Amino acid sequence: MTVRIYVPRDAAALALGADRVAKALSREAETRKLDITIVRNGSRGMHWLEPLVEVETAQGRIAYGPVKPSDIASLLDAGLIEGKAHPLCLGGTEEIPFLKNQTRLTFARCGVIDPVSLDHYKAHGGLKGLENAIAMAPADVVKQVTDSGLRGRGGAGFPTGIKWKTVLDAPGDRKYIVCNADEGDSGTFADRMIMEGDPFVLIEGMAIAGLATGATKGFVYIRSEYPQAIDAMNEAVTVARAAGVLGPSVLGSGKAFDMEIRVGAGAYVCGEETALLNSLEGKRGIVRAKPPLPALQGFMGRPTVVNNVISLASVPIIMDKGADFYRDFGMGRSRGTIPLQIAGNVKHGGLYETAFGLTLGEIIDVIGGGTATGRPVRAVQVGGPLGAYFPRALFDTPFDYEAFAAKDGLIGHAGITVFDDTVDMLKQARFAMEFCAVESCGKCTPCRIGSTRGVETADRIAQGIEPEKNRELLADLCNTMKFGSLCALGGFTPYPVLSAMNHFPEDFSPAPMVEAAE
Ligand SMILES: Cc1cc2nc3c(=O)[nH]c(=O)nc-3n(C[C@H](O)[C@H](O)[C@H](O)COP(=O)(O)O)c2cc1C
Ligand code: SF4
Repeated sequence: MTVRIYVPRDAAALALGADRVAKALSREAETRKLDITIVRNGSRGMHWLEPLVEVETAQGRIAYGPVKPSDIASLLDAGLIEGKAHPLCLGGTEEIPFLKNQTRLTFARCGVIDPVSLDHYKAHGGLKGLENAIAMAPADVVKQVTDSGLRGRGGAGFPTGIKWKTVLDAPGDRKYIVCNADEGDSGTFADRMIMEGDPFVLIEGMAIAGLATGATKGFVYIRSEYPQAIDAMNEAVTVARAAGVLGPSVLGSGKAFDMEIRVGAGAYVCGEETALLNSLEGKRGIVRAKPPLPALQGFMGRPTVVNNVISLASVPIIMDKGADFYRDFGMGRSRGTIPLQIAGNVKHGGLYETAFGLTLGEIIDVIGGGTATGRPVRAVQVGGPLGAYFPRALFDTPFDYEAFAAKDGLIGHAGITVFDDTVDMLKQARFAMEFCAVESCGKCTPCRIGSTRGVETADRIAQGIEPEKNRELLADLCNTMKFGSLCALGGFTPYPVLSAMNHFPEDFSPAPMVEAAE
């Protein structure tokens, strides 16, 4: 009987040599006349173990990693296809503590199935949510999503059900579902991982959103830097269409929903929903003033749901298991699970899906295992380039929208970037301003001009020029940007800058410049 061996096709695994490992395995198996089937799965999200090779045995899947092509011969000699011992053997995949301790709802199938096999998807519980949604009235589907407590995972944390209700209630001859897969936040990769590892869950979530709101057409706007995700989504859409999951009669319901994959051109601001809509319409990616809300006048002026990949990919489990099931995870107003993306200078980087509520300290010290360099953790940036830097003194903050806001931070898309004690926080503050200056769409003055003045002011502080005056000026500039910017690019850049200044003031008082002797 053929033995299934899994080698990921995920971009992170590919970057670490997964294709070469798969080729070496295939060649060596042929030479040895072994009956194996190589399945190219998604990633399990344990980046330090990639490429992670798994073999299916009677005892479940056994993991080996990180595997190099040169390891294949010794792995096969040791009995890889029976799941036997080898220095790279990690035991049962599901028993690896990083994976075992997670609550995988949205990512339940990621790394488990062949991403583009609809049969695998269905065999692992796929399409049940959509089938349930078809049997319900649209308003009841919206109510279930509202009752689940799901909030947008793209950054703002807006309740998904309320957004859907606005679109359902809005008059319009056509309505749209737009999935925001721009994933511009540095250190984040949850959207990419799910699109590469379980694309059907996003298709199912979008189809449910369509049926619930009366939208018949969907778009996934994916950043061009994600070629594997684009390929996986296109392949899965073709399969879903051929199987009647998409098309004029979704699963024979008589209701239409179809979708297209669109590719962005690489601007951070095109992740902002109105700039994204402009880009999707073929216009320059510049932010639109709100109102009107996209839910009322979005794509082509029609009512449009704009949701993040993870928001939409979390809907099938809610429609399958019910609102209460999902709502029972989490704390306060942060319900369900969140895929943490642990990155930067960290020992165990990767994706960790868990209920809201773990403290930042548990995430960094226990799950992440501290820094990769072994030096003390000094700062952690949560929420991407617009998120605040937290010092160790704030590590008791639970991962929850409101708890982070209460400490002048944000959880955003749940990207967590770790820095050790060699980090220069003044440089990080300057970087935040520089990033804003480079990525600004230029529509409003506080962001367009303020960010450039911010870079200059940080430089003057670094040079020891009137540091006190320039620190005050930088804080004042942040205030103007925070309250005077049209969107969160200019409005949130002050978070990393002010948190760096407030929590790490020693880095903002460099020694005064000494004139060169001679
Ligand atoms: C500058 C900027 C960049 C953004 N980038 C993204 C992004 O890459 N992905 C995303 O889902 N949301 C991004 N957002 C948030 C979107 O504007 C919007 O709130 C989100 O797509 C709504 O989906 P959700 O409710 O499911 O989170 C960004 C916002 C701003 C201001
Ligand atoms: S804050 Fe910046 S990115 Fe946002 S609209 Fe204004 S100029 Fe554009």
